[in-house]
Amino acid sequence: MEINKFKIEYWLNPYDDKARYNLGSSCCKPVTLRELLELTNTDRDMFFQELENMSMHYGYFEGMPRLKKAIAGLYTDAVTPDMVLSVHGGTGANSIVCYTLCQPGDNIVSILPNYQQFYSIPEALGTEVRIFNCDETSGYGLDMDRIRSMVDEHTKMINLANPNNPTGYTLNRKQLEDLIHIARSADAYIVCDEIYRGLSGEYMYSICDLYEKGICTSSASKVFSCAGTRIGWIVTRDPSIKDAMMNMRSYNSICEGPINELIAAIALENKEVFYKRNKAITDAGREILQEWISAEPHFRIACDSMSSTSYINYDFDMKAEEFAQKLYDAKGVLICHGGCFEQDKSFRIGYGFGDADYLKAGLLNISQFVKELEASGEIK
Ligand SMILES: Cc1ncc(COP(=O)(O)O)c(C=O)c1O
Repeated sequence: MEINKFKIEYWLNPYDDKARYNLGSSCCKPVTLRELLELTNTDRDMFFQELENMSMHYGYFEGMPRLKKAIAGLYTDAVTPDMVLSVHGGTGANSIVCYTLCQPGDNIVSILPNYQQFYSIPEALGTEVRIFNCDETSGYGLDMDRIRSMVDEHTKMINLANPNNPTGYTLNRKQLEDLIHIARSADAYIVCDEIYRGLSGEYMYSICDLYEKGICTSSASKVFSCAGTRIGWIVTRDPSIKDAMMNMRSYNSICEGPINELIAAIALENKEVFYKRNKAITDAGREILQEWISAEPHFRIACDSMSSTSYINYDFDMKAEEFAQKLYDAKGVLICHGGCFEQDKSFRIGYGFGDADYLKAGLLNISQFVKELEASGEIK
């Protein structure tokens, strides 16, 4: 099978632990196991006793019941634990969904910017991929009329990330309902990657709350600060597609490790702790970014973000990848360039890591670098 390179992984991974200022990541400050236990008031002795006695046999086919219950607790009453599948990360979730739904002869509508799995896997599987690109002219929102004109009786799914990665733009309930109306007319699934959901301070509607053919993918990596557990999940109210995905998952990984599931369950059972902690971190980061950008003539924030990242457009003539590479080479600042999202003259800044001084220093280095580019005549 031929598949395009996963651009964001190939760009970030070589520099991830070497960058002087890593503003490329989108995770909210990861916790150590000790911090997790402290933050959630978990009894250490009981926790370690449970680990000691845990059988190292296979885990649970659909996911640890305690974890599935905690996952269902992230949504309205429309979602119950039997609608949940525990899988290997958000990437595992997206991958299983795409492999289950996509085949030659069908088409999908992918709303960009998006996580690359959602268009590169379907394309590799021979499915026609119809791209709707959100951009600055529409404030990164959806043009429902255009999307309506893109679906037909062969449309298997509409996929998107909500909150968006990289922009942080978030569709509200009414916008989701408008999209559902379109999907329903074509009997299509809506697959929504909601990995950044939970940082707005109020309940954020999930596609699974609202649509009987909604499929939500997510994980413990971002908002729950537990990427190391590699626990992700898929939620759907449609039993037939859940069964098809479970079959696909059997080929893919059988089940998750119960130690990881237990740790993720503890984090999710205490969702409010993480929402509050990471909202405070991301609000503070966004404020620093806004202050910095207000004094920057070449940069502008794409749109309001409800996530751990914001997207920045620039006005000078240099390709996104070239700018990011030169910035890294000159200053050791790692940003996520627009090419990772099929966009140009733009980049993503992540501020979930929770260190104001580090963020300010990284941004200052970007300012200095742009001044140096101007002085050398490379940009105007
Ligand atoms: C939108 C989106 N989906 C999925 C993932 C992958 O998540 P995980 O680490 O849980 O595999 C990421 C990671 O950056 C992401 O940004």
